[in-house]
Amino acid sequence: MAGRRPARRRGGQMSEHRRSRSVAQTFLTDLLESQLAEWQSRVGGRSASVVDIGGGTGGLAVGLAAQGHTVTVVDPSPDALAALQRRAAEADLTDYITALQGDTGDLSSLLGPSSTDVVVCHRVLEYLPDPRQGLADIAGVLHEQGALSLLVAQRHPVVVSQAVSGDFAHARRTWADARMLDRTRVQRLLEEAGWDVRAVHGIGAISEHVPERHLEGPDRYRELLALEREVSEDPAFASVAPWVHFLATPG
Ligand SMILES: C[S@@+](CC[C@H](N)C(=O)[O-])C[C@H]1O[C@@H](n2cnc3c(N)ncnc32)[C@H](O)[C@@H]1O
Repeated sequence: MAGRRPARRRGGQMSEHRRSRSVAQTFLTDLLESQLAEWQSRVGGRSASVVDIGGGTGGLAVGLAAQGHTVTVVDPSPDALAALQRRAAEADLTDYITALQGDTGDLSSLLGPSSTDVVVCHRVLEYLPDPRQGLADIAGVLHEQGALSLLVAQRHPVVVSQAVSGDFAHARRTWADARMLDRTRVQRLLEEAGWDVRAVHGIGAISEHVPERHLEGPDRYRELLALEREVSEDPAFASVAPWVHFLATPG
């Protein structure tokens, strides 16, 4: 378990960093930070052992490690893990980030049962041949006070963008594809598997439709971020957002 250590980011660096990311990415990162902070306050303030399953090149892992958490990225791609290790070294965070090759089915053998405080599973469930089994594999490594941060791409915006680009046949196939996930299906999967869904947020519901030119000018980014946050828990916006985020705990 990681000890507590001061956050490494400083204010000025953070705002530069935020401007280089999309509003949706910033909203997601802020959401995860606040949910982790809530989790920490429930468990007496200690930092978390985080597993980022399918964490890829470590876009989230480096930020979480910089906040004091210990992060293990499990991903089947050796190239992604090599990029993650380079990033961790550049950020001087190699002591706090571990890269392990594997997939959801390997979690238990790699990490051991009930070993983990928080599992981050972002934009991975939709690639699994059996998402139910994937959720069971994740549940197996979480301890009883643990939490799951789950981000899934939704089929509705994919269907719309394929149709708007003129590919109606593709849009129809996507709509008919029973493997495509959305807010309702994921919520059902979680509840049927006994998870408690604590929060649901749409990600990018508005900001992903706003052209970059509308963000030029003082406070424009901040204002759009505020709007993104304000609509994110509305069920209608959450249903049509490109991604939907769930915070769930083992039931
Ligand atoms: C779209 S990327 C998402 C990366 C990162 N989580 C993010 O949100 O930016 C999907 C990732 O899932 C990984 N992946 C694919 N199949 C997987 C599986 N069965 N178990 C775990 N990860 C998997 C891929 O290697 C890739 O890094």
